[in-house]
Amino acid sequence: MNSAQRKAYLEAMQIDTWRRRGSPAPTSTPVSTPVPVSTPVPVTMPVPAQLAPNPAATADWAELERLVAGCRRCALCETRRHTVFGVGDRRARWFVVGEAPGADEDRQGEPFVGRAGQLLNAMLRAIGLERDQVFIANVLKCRPPNNRDPLANEAEACLPYLERQLALVEPRLVLVVGRIAAQNLLATDAPLARLRGRVHRRGDAGPPIVVTYHPAYLLRTPADKRKAWEDLKFAREVAERG
Ligand code: URA
Repeated sequence: MNSAQRKAYLEAMQIDTWRRRGSPAPTSTPVSTPVPVSTPVPVTMPVPAQLAPNPAATADWAELERLVAGCRRCALCETRRHTVFGVGDRRARWFVVGEAPGADEDRQGEPFVGRAGQLLNAMLRAIGLERDQVFIANVLKCRPPNNRDPLANEAEACLPYLERQLALVEPRLVLVVGRIAAQNLLATDAPLARLRGRVHRRGDAGPPIVVTYHPAYLLRTPADKRKAWEDLKFAREVAERG
C-alpha cells in the first residue's frame, strides 16, 4: 500500500494522521501492544453444549426473517419496538457481528445506524469495503432496555438465529466487534485483549473469526483506533488467505 492510500484509509477511519513536521513518516502504524499479525495462533472454541434446540437450524432466509420477526424466546420481545434482523449482502465475504441493537437500531429495525454505525462504516471503508458489501448482524436481535449488556439467557435464546445467518451467508471471514459479542459468540470470558490478534473458530469447521474493538468503544477511546486498524489489516489478511 502506498502512503497516499494508507493516509486515505486512516482518514476514513478518522484516525489522526498528524505528525511532527520533519519527523520521518512511520513505516507501519505504531501500536502500543504489538499484534502478532504474521503468526496468528489458531484457537478452536468448543460450541457450548447447553444451547437451546435451534428452531432456525434449517430455515431459509424468508423463514428465518419470519422467525425473528415473531420471536418470543426471551423477555426482550416485551420491550422492543422492532426486531433487528441484519442487513447487507447475503453472499458477502465478510460478516460483521455486533452486540445488540441500541435505541436508533430498535427504532429503525436495522443494525449499526447510529453514531457507532457511522464509525463502523468508516472502519469498513478503511479496508476497502462498503457497508452493502458485507453482512451485518448482532448477537441479540432485540434491544436490551437502557442498552444494558445482554443476559446469558437472552444470548442463548437468540444465538441460533445468528448461527443460521452465518451458515446461510458462508462468509470467508467473521469480524466480531466488541468484547460482549466476542464472548458470546466464542463462549468465553476472556478479555478483549486476549481475543484480538488471533484467529478463532467455532467448532472444527466454520469461517475464521477475528475480534476487534466495538465502534462505540472507539468513539469513547479514539486512541485505540490505531489498534483497531491493526485488527482490520489482520482480518483482511486472514480473509485473503482463505
Ligand atoms: N451496537 C451494536 O453492537 N449493534 C448495533 O446494531 C448498534 C450498536
